[in-house]
Amino acid sequence: MNIVCLLGSPRSRGNSTAIARHFCETAEKKGASIQSFSLNKLNYRGCQACMTCKTKLDRCVLKDDLTEVLDAIRDADVLVMATPVYYGEVSSQMKGFIDRTFSYLVPDYTTNPVPSRLKPGKRLVFIQTQGQPDEKQFADIFPRYDYFFNWYGFMDNCLIRGCGLMTDGEAQARSEIMVDAEKTADMLVQKT
Ligand SMILES: Cc1cc2nc3c(=O)[nH]c(=O)nc-3n(C[C@H](O)[C@H](O)[C@H](O)COP(=O)(O)O)c2cc1C
Repeated sequence: MNIVCLLGSPRSRGNSTAIARHFCETAEKKGASIQSFSLNKLNYRGCQACMTCKTKLDRCVLKDDLTEVLDAIRDADVLVMATPVYYGEVSSQMKGFIDRTFSYLVPDYTTNPVPSRLKPGKRLVFIQTQGQPDEKQFADIFPRYDYFFNWYGFMDNCLIRGCGLMTDGEAQARSEIMVDAEKTADMLVQKT
């Protein structure tokens, strides 16, 4: 089982990264292979809306550090997207990646019953951390991206959340979040 893990926080010891690492370490112990990318260390641009991926190529025409990431996801069984909430959204590092996944859609994606260029059946593990302790706040983020990743053929996507987390290292002290990460990894590795 191949897992691609995208770390969307600029904090290398931050909460979303800690949860993602715990998820990946648990999955690795069960035999999964992990490829991890720290988005903040990569140089890339957002989608240019040039439509080359709809008119001339079956992939994104931009050649930058996201090229390897977008290619790796084509071979992945599970995609982990770990992000802090910034102003009610995913981090800009993560959003820049998400916009580039437009290249996974076929030219007639609005009408085609199979709109994705990706092999179906991949699963998304969405890890979301936020300072706000009230879990009703920012509960809209995952359903929105779940919807779009379903277009790409992802299914039965999972959410791991950490609410009320501010400074580095707080997530590790919240056993219920780490147990959630572990259980999700156990469940996914058993299923594939
Ligand atoms: C620029 C910025 C914007 C933020 N916006 C929000 C927000 O809208 N809602 C919230 O609950 N927390 C917000 N936070 C707090 C982070 O989401 C929180 O500290 C999170 O646990 C950080 O995750 P990380 O440690 O993985 O970077 C913001 C933090 C920063 C630096």
